[in-house]
Amino acid sequence: MKKALKLIGKILGVIILLLLIVAAYIQFSPIPTYEAKAPQLTVTPDSALIAEGRRLAGMVCNQCHMADNGKLEGKLMADLPKAFGKAWTGNITNDPKYGAGRYSDGELAYFLRTGVKRDGKYAPPWMPKFPHLSDQDLHSVIAYLRSDAPEVQASDKQHPAAQPSFLTKLLCRVAFKPLPYPDKPITAPPIEDKVAYGRYLVTGKVECYSCHSENFATMNMMEPEKTPGYFAGGNPIPNLEGVIINSANLTKDPETGIGSWTEEQFIQTVKFGKRPDGKPIRYPMVPFGGLSDEEVSAVWAYLQSLPAVHHPVDRKW
Ligand code: HEC
Ligand code: HEC
Repeated sequence: MKKALKLIGKILGVIILLLLIVAAYIQFSPIPTYEAKAPQLTVTPDSALIAEGRRLAGMVCNQCHMADNGKLEGKLMADLPKAFGKAWTGNITNDPKYGAGRYSDGELAYFLRTGVKRDGKYAPPWMPKFPHLSDQDLHSVIAYLRSDAPEVQASDKQHPAAQPSFLTKLLCRVAFKPLPYPDKPITAPPIEDKVAYGRYLVTGKVECYSCHSENFATMNMMEPEKTPGYFAGGNPIPNLEGVIINSANLTKDPETGIGSWTEEQFIQTVKFGKRPDGKPIRYPMVPFGGLSDEEVSAVWAYLQSLPAVHHPVDRKW
């Protein structure tokens, strides 16, 4: 009996020691790197493509990358939950040494799709990935980053390296992995096909689904519709003061979702942050003034095509 206990004690000791070694290894080694297999790509810019890229960046990238001086030179990511560590959004001005000017068109495309930077370093989910964005829209962002728009003029701003927490490092070993680079062209459906176009907007171009489902941790990036609680809200997202704001249920459930709203009310809320009952829309929901009525109408049509989900969310009003 004593012998058996001693043996169990020894085995436990060895297991604990091994776990400690693994934990120390994760803590003291950087986030894993991958081979950056940038495609051959040369984006041919024209004014329409640049304008579209600027509009898209205004809705998707600027919130994180724009500094107080109006340039996309990056800043501390103030609303990152402490549990993930500290990160600075990159300088994506066209500076050839410190900005996105370091990247070739193919390297930018590869990074934005997969999350692998030109030097092979993987960016954790604090930088979103765009696996479903159409090639045309992806090229528009690249064309914009190269353009003479004032926001992207070269800045030599440098930021400290990210300080991922143990949790982030652990997750980068077991859960967060680069997304595959698409092996086929990606095209957006025509805007006349409202439901399909709305789906493209909310899963590919402006990604409403990521905030409006159950939790970022359970997001299914490759198959968005399989994300738990798809569009039923409740994702607890910190605002800039660290206060949690739960995202809204956008399914057509009349009681807990937006089933009693009209399309016009939806358009007003999404574009200008005006809810039908007059309550303000709080950060992190930033109104999408850059979307056209036709686009928001397509989003509405798509949301109406989804099943109603009865899911009360504590909106903390
Ligand atoms: C939620 C915040 C967020 C959004 C939205 C976002 N980014 Fe980022 N981005 C980051 C963070 C944080 C990093 C730094 C990643 C790291 O170092 O691990 C980053 C890094 C980058 C880099 C790499 C910079 C470098 O120095 O290597 C590029 C390029 C980039 N982002 C482009 C974009 C573009 C283009 C968009 C919009 C289509 C965008 N980002 C949207 C947070 C964001
Ligand atoms: C960064 C996360 C985030 C993104 C991206 C986002 N939302 Fe929101 N949204 C929220 C949060 C959080 C709320 C709740 C705000 C509040 O309670 O004040 C909200 C509220 C709303 C509301 C109000 C619903 C209600 O019942 O009050 C609508 C409508 C809405 N979002 C639509 C959209 C659409 C459409 C998109 C994409 C174009 C989108 N959101 C993208 C986080 C987000």
